[in-house]
Amino acid sequence: MSKSFYVTTPIYYPSGKFHIGTAYTTVLADALKRYKTLRGYDSYMLTGTDEHGQKIQEVAKKNNMEPQEYVDKMADYAKKLWKTMDINYDDFIRTTEPRHEIQVQKIFDRLMDQGDIYKGEYEGWYCVPCETYFTQTQLIDGKCPDCGREVRLMKEESYFFNMKKYVPRLLKYYDEHPDFIKPNYRKTEMINNFIKPGLEDLCVSRTTFDWGIKVLKDPKHVVYVWLDALTNYITALGYGTENDELFKKFWPASLQIVGKDIARFHLIYWPIFLMALGIPLPDQILVHNWFMMKDGKMSKSKGNIIYPETLINRYGLDATKYYLLRELPVSNDGVFSPESFVERYNVDLSNDLGNLLNRTVAMCNKYFDGKVPSYTGCVNTVDNDLEEFIKNAIGNFENKITELEIANSLQEIWTIISRLNKYIDETSPWILAKDENEKEKLESCIYHLIEGLRKVAILLNPFVTNTSKNMFKQLGITDSKLKQWDSIYTNENLEGTKVIEKGEPLFMRLDAEEEVEYIKNEMKK
Ligand code: MSP
Repeated sequence: MSKSFYVTTPIYYPSGKFHIGTAYTTVLADALKRYKTLRGYDSYMLTGTDEHGQKIQEVAKKNNMEPQEYVDKMADYAKKLWKTMDINYDDFIRTTEPRHEIQVQKIFDRLMDQGDIYKGEYEGWYCVPCETYFTQTQLIDGKCPDCGREVRLMKEESYFFNMKKYVPRLLKYYDEHPDFIKPNYRKTEMINNFIKPGLEDLCVSRTTFDWGIKVLKDPKHVVYVWLDALTNYITALGYGTENDELFKKFWPASLQIVGKDIARFHLIYWPIFLMALGIPLPDQILVHNWFMMKDGKMSKSKGNIIYPETLINRYGLDATKYYLLRELPVSNDGVFSPESFVERYNVDLSNDLGNLLNRTVAMCNKYFDGKVPSYTGCVNTVDNDLEEFIKNAIGNFENKITELEIANSLQEIWTIISRLNKYIDETSPWILAKDENEKEKLESCIYHLIEGLRKVAILLNPFVTNTSKNMFKQLGITDSKLKQWDSIYTNENLEGTKVIEKGEPLFMRLDAEEEVEYIKNEMKK
C-alpha cells in the first residue's frame, strides 16, 4: 500500500488580488506535494477560499455587488492565478459551498449539544479586517494589535466555545508530540503569549451581520468565520458524510502550512476543535514567516505591492517560484527587493545553473558529437571527490526538506551546481581534448557533468518543474527511469543518451539596472 501525504494551505480571503507574499504559502505547499509524489507518496493538496464574514460583506458592498456574486468572481480569480502558477492542487474548497456549510452547521450543533459551546454576551474591541475581538489591554495605541487598523467597540449576544477546558490536553499534546509544530519556537510563542496569560473562551457566533453560515438552532446567529473556515480541512474530505473515503484515506493531514499571522488559530483553536470532535490532530503544522518590503508590510497605500503575475509575465514562472522559495528564511521574515530578485535570477539561475548546462551540452557536442560517454567509474581523485560531494549534498538536501527548511534545501542543490562548475575548472576539459592520451579523462569528465546535471534536474523538479523538464530535454534524458528519485543515489550508465545539438539558455541574462527599474515602476502601479 502506498503512503499518503495530505497537505493543506490556508483558504484565502478573497478580499483583493493576492500579492507575492500571499502566494508564497501555496507555492510552498505545491512544491512539497510534488516532492512527496516523486518520493512515491499518494499525495493530495487542498486549497480554497474563505468567503464568509463581515470583511467580505463590506468589500462586496464597496464593489457594488452582492456578497455571493463578489465571492464567485474572486474564487474564479484565485483558480485562474493558481493555474497561471501551475499549482497542482487536488481540490479547491469554497466555504459557501453546501458540502461545507451543511457540515459546519452539524459540527456547531454537536459542539452545542455536548456542552462545549454555550450562550453568553460579548463586549470587546472588534477588528473587522482581522475578524477578531480584542480586550482593551490587547490594543496597541487603541488600534488592532495585529494589523494596526481602527477597532470598533461591539457588544452582542454570542455563543462561546469553552477553550479553557481543553488547555491541559493541548499542552500535554504539545509535550508528547515534539514535531507537531515547525519551527519549534512557534510553540513557545503560543504558550507564552496566549496560553500562560490565560486563554479566554472563544466567541464563536455573530449577530451583527448575516453573511455567514446560520446556526441551525438559533438562526439569528452566524458561525464565527474562523470556526467556519478551519473546518474546511475536513469538510473538503467529506467528513461527516456518507461519502467520506477521502477523509478516511487522508486524515489526519500530514502537513498544514500557514503564515505566522494565523498561527494562533491553527496551533491553539484548531487542535482544540478537533479534540472536541474526537478527531485526530494533523501530523504537523508548519508556520512560515512573511515576505516584507524594505519599508515594512506590502500595502496598496505604500505603493509597494508586487503581484506574482508581474514577475511571471516578464521573468517566467520558474524564476518567480525559485525566488519565493529561496528567499524566505526559516526563522525570520524575508525581504523582497527588485535588486535581490534580479541578482538571484542572474547569478543563481542564469549564470550558475544556466551556463553550466550550456557549457556541458556544448562540450559534449564538440568532443563526442553529442553522445554521452559511458560510465567507467572514477579515473582520478577529482572524480571521486565530486561523486562523494554530490552524495553528501543529496543527503543534506533530504534532511533539510524533511525538516521543512525549504530555502536551505534549495541552497543544498546550489552547492552541487557550484561544485560542478568548480569541477570544470579543475578538470579543464579543453586541455584534455588536445591530448589523445587523455581521452579517458575527458570521457569521464563529460559523463560526470551530465550525470551531475541529471541529478540536479531531479532535485529541482518539485520547485521549478519546467526548468527540470527543459534540462532533461537538453541533456537528452528521455527514459523515465532516469528521471525518478531513486535513480539519484547511483551513477547511471547513460549509454545511448545524446544531448541536444544546440543548447538554449535556460535563463537569459538580465540587464540588472533596467530590470530593477522595471520592477520598481510596476510596484508603484
Ligand atoms: N482566510 C484566512 C485563513 C483561513 S485558514 C482556515 C487568511 N487568509 S489570507 O488570504 O489573509 O492569507 C492567506 C495566506 O497568506 C496566509 O497563510 C498568510 O499568512 C499568508 N500571507 C499573507 N501575507 C503574507 C506575506 N507578506 N508573506 C508571506 N505570507 C503571507 O489568513
